Amino acid sequence: MVLKMNLLLMDEGRSIYDIVKNSPLIGKCEVFYSDNTNSILKYIKKHNVDVVLADFDRYPKNALSLIKALHHFDSLIDIILIGQAETTEKVVDMIKKGATDYLEKPVKQEMLNRTLQSLNEKKNLRKETFLLEKRLEEKYSFQGMIGKSPYMLEIFSLLEKISKFFSSILITGETGTGKELVAHAIHDLSTRSSRDLVICDCVSIPENLFESELFGYQKGAFTGASKNKHGLFQAAHKGIIFLDEIGEIPLSVQAKLLRVLENHQFRPLGSNETKEVDVKVIAATNRDLSECIENRTFRKDLFHRLNKMEVHLPPLRERKEDIPLLVRYFLKNLSQKVDKNLKGTSMQVQKLFSKYKWPGNVRELENVLERAALVTKKEFIALQDLPEYFQKNSASIQNTSMIQKQNLCSLEELEKDYITYLLEETGHNIKKTARILDVSRTTLYNKLKKYHIPH
Ligand SMILES: Nc1ncnc2c1ncn2[C@@H]1O[C@H](COP(=O)(O)OP(=O)(O)OP(=O)(O)O)[C@@H](O)[C@H]1O
Ligand SMILES: [Mg+2]
Repeated sequence: MVLKMNLLLMDEGRSIYDIVKNSPLIGKCEVFYSDNTNSILKYIKKHNVDVVLADFDRYPKNALSLIKALHHFDSLIDIILIGQAETTEKVVDMIKKGATDYLEKPVKQEMLNRTLQSLNEKKNLRKETFLLEKRLEEKYSFQGMIGKSPYMLEIFSLLEKISKFFSSILITGETGTGKELVAHAIHDLSTRSSRDLVICDCVSIPENLFESELFGYQKGAFTGASKNKHGLFQAAHKGIIFLDEIGEIPLSVQAKLLRVLENHQFRPLGSNETKEVDVKVIAATNRDLSECIENRTFRKDLFHRLNKMEVHLPPLRERKEDIPLLVRYFLKNLSQKVDKNLKGTSMQVQKLFSKYKWPGNVRELENVLERAALVTKKEFIALQDLPEYFQKNSASIQNTSMIQKQNLCSLEELEKDYITYLLEETGHNIKKTARILDVSRTTLYNKLKKYHIPH
């Protein structure tokens, strides 16, 4: 069998070349010798090289910098060093630093063949893994959002269904769960994607300026209003407005907002003239709006109008299956940003990530990885690359895992697991599940909502 490997032989003498040339396994082998790393890299950039066979005796001092430079350029290149009897420690050190293997002189044909054959198998496996990962990425990404948990897959399919036909949508979820990302996805999938998404960041608007910001004003409406001014609703005519953190809008302006939503009409501040607009509304909040209704800071009728179509993003701790995929996605982007080859996280970090509660959700994960990407000296993020609070947490998390090992869990967790189990058993039959639990259907629905169990 001829291997389809491109070999670069870095050796002045002919002895190894003769062995390589006579090997029945090798398709193409180029010989290039230089002790100048730059010229080697230049050569590699032009030619497609899979394996470098380097005479270590000629590179005793440069071997490490050569390995580093080659891997910096292409982390998948295999480097085999060939040398006179080196100490085991030295060989182990070379391999730790990135060499794939070490062959002792005189190199035997059989030994070389075996080494190359095993590299070839690894290369094929890597190719397969690469293709699998690529397919996985495509399968579990949707409009720039990553997720494979049933929650996220359900959200992706919901967004596909509703984005073309909605008049208003409410996106709810804790901070950092991806509400803004969802708003952009809805806009991109909508029939109005060719127009800009007009964004209103309700947190940054002072209370007394809300009305004029949203609906504009008429010249002379107040001191300083020297000419008519359009508001954001006018700017979004025939398009979509995104009211981020809608819970911040003062009660006095909420009535006006409801009118626009229901009749598409509003009056600019200080004007008697009613204007008509054709605007679709996406609103988002990380507050519990029903609590705001109880506290009388949010109108019930506005809530019900918005709530007709709700997209709820569950916290990251309830969809931990998404974490490895998100980690891979962020590290891939960060690798480019910080010019490193970040391959993943250590097992310890993986475990920690899956136990941690993530109060800042996906944003926190992204930030933790961004910091780690900057400080790490390795390809795999380790515990010491994480922020201090995380490292401190690691001890307490390990303690909780003791509890989990003994299969102890809270009553709520037990209830959630039992309801999920019953739903599966009854084929998602709400009536049957409620009867077994001996609760009303409304109570069951409330519990499904509380525990974010999809149904
Ligand atoms: N499913 C996801 N896939 C990839 N990136 C995500 C995902 N969810 C969130 N992010 C990223 O996490 C960060 C926070 O997301 P976003 O700003 O949309 O959250 P939010 O819910 O609007 O937060 P807040 O309530 O604090 O405004 C962003 O950088 C976003 O790109
Ligand atoms: Mg946001």
